[in-house]
Amino acid sequence: MIIQPGHALYDTFGGIHHIYANKTCMKALQSGKAFPDGAILIFDLLEVKSADNTLTEGQRKVLGVMQKDSKRFAGTGGWGFEGLDPWLLAALRNLTKPDAHMITDYVLPQAPRTLARVLAGGEILDIGSGEGFHLLHYARRYPRSQMMGLELDSAKVETARKNIAEAFLGERVSLREGDVNQLDEGGVYDLITLNLTLHDVCSSDSCREVLGRILRALKPAWTLLVSEIAYPESIRSYRDGTFSQLLSGIELHLAMAGCEMITQRQLLRWMEEGGFENVRVATQPNPARFVVLGEKPANG
Ligand SMILES: C[S@@+](CC[C@H](N)C(=O)[O-])C[C@H]1O[C@@H](n2cnc3c(N)ncnc32)[C@H](O)[C@@H]1O
Repeated sequence: MIIQPGHALYDTFGGIHHIYANKTCMKALQSGKAFPDGAILIFDLLEVKSADNTLTEGQRKVLGVMQKDSKRFAGTGGWGFEGLDPWLLAALRNLTKPDAHMITDYVLPQAPRTLARVLAGGEILDIGSGEGFHLLHYARRYPRSQMMGLELDSAKVETARKNIAEAFLGERVSLREGDVNQLDEGGVYDLITLNLTLHDVCSSDSCREVLGRILRALKPAWTLLVSEIAYPESIRSYRDGTFSQLLSGIELHLAMAGCEMITQRQLLRWMEEGGFENVRVATQPNPARFVVLGEKPANG
């Protein structure tokens, strides 16, 4: 349904409506009887764009949910109504977008030399590789590269080994059970990634040392990518940032579990002081993350 200019409800509800009904609601609509309790209707309302004699969908205006429950919503004719903010919906969608895709689709194009290298065939190390999801994703995206995962938890290493074998990627994806605090390699990797790992690995004292080990393990002129939870920089930014408040449960849990609350500013400083060059924040769509890139100096 399209509500166009001139309609009495245009100001509030003008645009293209997609309307979804559950089974209870459909039965009532088809029979013409009153809506019984349990009926649910969803209105997805989008702006309408008119060009070249065609009407197409624009930005989402609101997602409305109506639920019939005559006791609960007695004051409003038995209907409850909830309007979901498009910003919140977009944020939730981005929150659940796998980080590996965010890294390959948004972040690595911002390091074009490194992207070209891994496409041509390079060495990638994923630290805190967990069950191997990132390793498998990188292996598929960069079929000429070799991947190495470093993971402390033996159960996760075991699961990752199974996942890699099932994907028939064992020739290009290797795993090492071990602690990044003991990483002792020099000039091996073109790209090192840590997704939600740095906060798990270190206290603020040991983070600098871990970053030093990572710097040594990179080949000169190549890249470190750190993706972390977007902690607020200050009480003020927590108070002003709706998203910080939404994340606060996760952040409290991690703080209680002994993880470091690394902020973007802190990480930028640690990397710059630790000898990385061209340290920068990557643009990406997930407000629950920040991603920092930096290179080892060419003469390093
Ligand atoms: C929050 S998980 C993230 C896993 C994976 N990177 C992902 O994005 O799904 C952090 C991972 O780092 C691993 N880890 C923690 N401390 C480590 C250490 N000192 N050395 C290597 N891995 C470590 C944990 O076992 C865990 O698998």
